[in-house]
Amino acid sequence: MRITRRAALQTGLAAATLHALGPEARAADKSKAEPLRLGVCYYPEHWSPDRWKQDATDMAARGISRVRIGEFAWTLMEPEPGRYDWAWLDRAIDTLSAAKLGVVLGTPTASPPEWMVARHPEILPVGKDGRIKSFGSRRYYSFSSTFYREQATRIATAMAERYGRHAGVVGWQIDNEYGCHDTTYSYGPADLTAFRLWLRARYGSIERLNEAWGTVVWSQQLPSFEAVNMPMSSPYDFPPDMLLDFRRFSSMQVLAFHKAQVAAIRPLSPGRFVTTNFMANFTEFDHFPVGADTDFASWDSYPLGVAAGGDDARWDRTGNPDLTGWNHDLIRGLSAQPFWIMEQQPGAVNWARYNPAPLPGMVRLWAWEAFAHGAGAVSWFRWRQGQVGPEQMHAGLNLPDGEISPGGVEAARVAKEIVKLGPVPSCERADVALLFDYESTWMSEIQPNGIGGSDLAHAQSWYAALRGLGMDVDVLRPGSNIDGYRLIVIPSLWTIHDRTRQALKAASGLVLIGPRSGSKTQNFSIPGNLPPGPLQALIPMKVTQVASLRRGTTVSVQGDQIAGNAMEWREWIDTELPSLADYDDGLPAVIDGGRVRYVGCKGDATFNAAIMRAAVLKAGLQPVPLPDGVRLRRRGPYRFAFNYGATPYQLSDQANARFVVGGPVVGPQDCAIWMER
Ligand code: GAL
Repeated sequence: MRITRRAALQTGLAAATLHALGPEARAADKSKAEPLRLGVCYYPEHWSPDRWKQDATDMAARGISRVRIGEFAWTLMEPEPGRYDWAWLDRAIDTLSAAKLGVVLGTPTASPPEWMVARHPEILPVGKDGRIKSFGSRRYYSFSSTFYREQATRIATAMAERYGRHAGVVGWQIDNEYGCHDTTYSYGPADLTAFRLWLRARYGSIERLNEAWGTVVWSQQLPSFEAVNMPMSSPYDFPPDMLLDFRRFSSMQVLAFHKAQVAAIRPLSPGRFVTTNFMANFTEFDHFPVGADTDFASWDSYPLGVAAGGDDARWDRTGNPDLTGWNHDLIRGLSAQPFWIMEQQPGAVNWARYNPAPLPGMVRLWAWEAFAHGAGAVSWFRWRQGQVGPEQMHAGLNLPDGEISPGGVEAARVAKEIVKLGPVPSCERADVALLFDYESTWMSEIQPNGIGGSDLAHAQSWYAALRGLGMDVDVLRPGSNIDGYRLIVIPSLWTIHDRTRQALKAASGLVLIGPRSGSKTQNFSIPGNLPPGPLQALIPMKVTQVASLRRGTTVSVQGDQIAGNAMEWREWIDTELPSLADYDDGLPAVIDGGRVRYVGCKGDATFNAAIMRAAVLKAGLQPVPLPDGVRLRRRGPYRFAFNYGATPYQLSDQANARFVVGGPVVGPQDCAIWMER
């Protein structure tokens, strides 16, 4: 079969070249300082037009200058195929912009109208169980449906033709939360066709696919690309490389869907930004190339939605500071700075395992923390709690009766405070880089080798340890420019590409490599020289045996500077290099290769804190040990402290500080901002 242009578009290959461009290709102008902004998500269509003007006036009076609208309103924009009704949206945009609110328009492609689904049910996604996910709720489309991609591009184009140059429109949000509600992967006929095309383009011949997938095992050789099926259900494991390819393919479909809308909007809306809103802790598609095709990335921050019901009840009413921080630092690196919080939790949400109310102070603290990590705008979800529909139990800045909510009071306080800072520059490069790779997380889920935490959780545990020592961290895609970083940590990077190996070799900073790094080739096989494969050029050692550890089982690890426990994962390492800490059977756990160190296990918090402290000191940095609930961050001339905990925190060495917000004692759920004189 020949790969047509249409097929290439369908499979996302046209977008592949973008992979070559890292975020560094769109380096931010660090000298540029901008005022911090507040925004809000608003659904004019949920309310009588009689209220719009008052709402707009109240928003502006409360210090809000940006308002996102439209992202689910396709049926109102196009009530019948080809018949657009813009009157309501004209009026809404005019009303909001008359109050000096810059409008961010969301393309409504997360919610195709019923008439489209009725006529074209083939756009619907199909679950792994083979069942169609039908019309209802939202996100009921497959990224691989060419028809749907064309329709999405059509409505985006129609919107941009009408509003692209509207003086009140400042930017665009493409779609809404790609992949939310388990919709990255679809297993229907359109997906299968696209998957086969993608595989054909990747491998060229079925023989090469068979070799890459290792189909010789269990007689799985495929005679042709037409014989490939979806990895839906089987008695035992599919070839791991098949599963990895399915994830790569699905990720490329998201990218291609995104790029089609961006390409449609850009020429029709000059001078306006284009972004899309990512989610917290979401790894189903590779965010780096999608982020690279935005002017800046944004994400939706629901700290309690993420933490409540998790393992650690301490964070139920505040969120876990390091999960929120992780997502800020990851999203900041996807595109140019400053990034945005497109949706910020304003009170209790309705959709978590249970839904506590935030402790008083947290709504304000989260906004300041986002700014500290490099956000240019924080936009609350949403203006007023709804009275109807599925999310009526979700808080807003206002109650359903129009009165201000507790979160609204805190948001208004932030509005008064941001004025004190004036324009703020972007975050400078941190001293510490953490390399994070989406493909590695997919590999860890495909081959966990037992029940264990995901690689994302492991990466976050290293990140938390660094943050607990007062370090600012940049989360980077492997292969990024790492020149100038004093410490480069790689929690787990399964496949080492040449570019990454070379960058690590050339780097001057200390490199700390975690377990399972270099443990697979690109085709998901064990490297011929054993793990860490290509990293052996940096640190001569090999991993000869691995074990996953039962939950609750730990292995003590002790050394001069390092003490703690291995948990979940342990490796046996063969090397002549000295060990910085040994397992309780005397075998090496942390290998010291001079400028490169290797950690052969996942560890508990004590262990992680110890290996990070040793690395930070070795890198010539000054650790500032912090309680679990206290975190520091630097942005431009400002320093920030946040207290998620229950007891006041006394900042040290503040003789030269000029406080802009708060003072040297940071109370629970409070923050302080100061400049060093
Ligand atoms: C987000 C979504 C919003 C709203 C919000 C509620 O995931 O983008 O539309 O549903 O959650 O917390």
